[in-house]
Amino acid sequence: MTVSTGRARIAASVLDADLGNLANALRRIDAAGADRVHLDVMDGHFVPNLTFGAKTIRHLRRRTELPFDAHLMISEPSRSIDQFLDAGCDSVTIHVEIEEPIEPTLRAIRDAGRAAGLSLRPGTPMSALEPYAPLLDIVMIMTVEPGFGGQSFMGDVLAAKAQPARELLRHKTYGGEVHVDGGINRETAEQAGGTGVDVLVVGSALFVRGRNIGREVRLIRALADEGFQYGMNGGEPPVPRDRLVSVGALPKHLARRMADEVERGGVPVIMLRGDGRINPDGVRDYDLLVPASAAGIVHERHDRDLEWAQAEAEAWRTTFPAGDPAQA
Ligand code: DX5
Ligand code: ZN
Repeated sequence: MTVSTGRARIAASVLDADLGNLANALRRIDAAGADRVHLDVMDGHFVPNLTFGAKTIRHLRRRTELPFDAHLMISEPSRSIDQFLDAGCDSVTIHVEIEEPIEPTLRAIRDAGRAAGLSLRPGTPMSALEPYAPLLDIVMIMTVEPGFGGQSFMGDVLAAKAQPARELLRHKTYGGEVHVDGGINRETAEQAGGTGVDVLVVGSALFVRGRNIGREVRLIRALADEGFQYGMNGGEPPVPRDRLVSVGALPKHLARRMADEVERGGVPVIMLRGDGRINPDGVRDYDLLVPASAAGIVHERHDRDLEWAQAEAEAWRTTFPAGDPAQA
């Protein structure tokens, strides 16, 4: 089964940018560090709004190196799919609710070596995508009614569909992507990220007058990651990366020896007197603290040494003061 990367990427939608100055919008998206550009194509029929088509995308293509995700909210994508592929779209996502055959268009996208996606309106069940599952690289979950930017995020829709979407992509050992489109902003990013989606489409939140797009992208990405870490941890606060954990407690002379040994392998060790046992010399055992992220490797490398040191400590305790290294 495919699993989430846990590192949500941001696809910036230009829908709410100044459409008279798209080149500038792309320049800003690029400078902001967004991962993708999400291009909303509307035909005034599938949705009650019109935007731009393949020709515009072709001209935008040379303005940035960022991947282009085309989101076609059009009734008859089969008529123009070749143009969108020629225009340089890296992925093309069409809607499952259209009335023409879907499979040939998905095949055309894949035959061109691009990623093929299906999107579904909030009210469409995920089961509608099942017949096409083997042809899908992307499942795009709409969390607003398609057609306009700036609507409110439907969190319940995402919560119900995120896992089924992932399962639809189980044929992809790698590279399958779940996208969420609609209403993602600093208020909703954590919740969206918590569902493990791979790509967050962000439109109106980026194009607020006076807003720093780069900061917004970083904020939304960070919040989504935070949500993912909490989600992975059953809703509990995740372990901070820099937390220190004890890999053992030893009398001072043995603790120092082990610390030197572990540090030779590049892992920093802090020796602290914790609430360990009090030794015959009146001094407590020292905890050997290492960064939580390195604890696994320390155990792997040093468990035998640690066992030896424990045995040594026991021997020292029973023979003290004869075995006191301070008197040796
Ligand atoms: C809506 C479009 C979205 C839109 C998202 O039909 O598919 O991609 O740009 O805009 P926000 O982020 O404002 O919901
Ligand atoms: Zn979209």
